[in-house]
Amino acid sequence: MTNHLLGPDDLSSAEIEKLLNLAKEIIANPMNYADAAKGKILATLFYEPSTRTRLSFETAMLRLGGQVIGFADANSTSAKKGEGIQDTIRTVAAYSDIIAIRHPVEGAPYLAAKYSDVPIINAGDGGHHHPSQTLTDLLTIWEMKGQLDNLNIALARDLKFGRTVHSLVEALLKHKGNKFFFVSPEGLEIPDYIKEKIPADAIVETHNLEDVLPEVDVLYMTRIQKERFANPDEYAMFADACILDNEKLKGAKKDMIILHPLPIDKEILFEVDDDPRAAYFKQVKYGMYARMALIYTLLNKPFVKGYEREGVVAEGITAKCQNPKCVTNNANVQSAKWLFTDEARTVCRCEYCDWILKNE
Ligand code: CP
Repeated sequence: MTNHLLGPDDLSSAEIEKLLNLAKEIIANPMNYADAAKGKILATLFYEPSTRTRLSFETAMLRLGGQVIGFADANSTSAKKGEGIQDTIRTVAAYSDIIAIRHPVEGAPYLAAKYSDVPIINAGDGGHHHPSQTLTDLLTIWEMKGQLDNLNIALARDLKFGRTVHSLVEALLKHKGNKFFFVSPEGLEIPDYIKEKIPADAIVETHNLEDVLPEVDVLYMTRIQKERFANPDEYAMFADACILDNEKLKGAKKDMIILHPLPIDKEILFEVDDDPRAAYFKQVKYGMYARMALIYTLLNKPFVKGYEREGVVAEGITAKCQNPKCVTNNANVQSAKWLFTDEARTVCRCEYCDWILKNE
């Protein structure tokens, strides 16, 4: 495991199991960990709204006996005066022992990790990744289904901008035999950079929940990420797509579990909360334990400064990233590498946001 958790690339299946086993050990014996981070400080830098991620990170640190600093509103910080991510990170790393950062710009935590003297955790970067949510989701699945492999998993609604979906799919791909049912309205399909990693026989794509529910072990619902649309009016086109209600659940397996990273907007009717398959509030609690395990693990690893993503660098390609939301287009980044994604070395992705380079 690297010193940072920025995306699913940073964890192997063995490392995921180790973290989840530690989370289970903390659940069983919380008092054994009550002083595990005594004298250490977590900084939470939240440039975007959050309820669960920030508070669960902060609670996790407090339950480990550590302390917390940070901000929940970047408008009250020197970012408002023009300070860049690099300088903020160098400053906060001087005050703290570990940093959790949420940022609307895709790849911002990867840039932060290059400059930090302490571990960085990506607490959500735009529509890209949210790996600590993935640990939450995996712990919930493991506790409730007893396995992380050979599962039929449906992921529904906003698969384009849903960062929790992107990280979860990549993590589940590290476990054998999983099959993915992508359920989204037209226009919000799973991005190519995720889809190209999945074997063709492990993907089903549809627009209707009813088509897939009878086959599914885990249903992962998501909110339409209206804050990510270039034109906010576009949200109206998708607002009523893939809504889960009790009627649709009649066709689902009796032992299916329903997950959601939360917050719920309107995609799960209130009536579903009473269904024994609804697990999204149990998931919230597992998130705190997953983050305790993550903080504990990163604090106890010898630190080596710097971060390079794995992959073969495409030498000579100097094109700018075409993703307008990439950190390379929103911060002072001197240079960015393109990394080959395939053995034939014909396709490459941005080292920060995973955008696939297209010749247009
Ligand atoms: N799951 C999640 O990221 O929730 P918050 O936006 O409330 O942190």
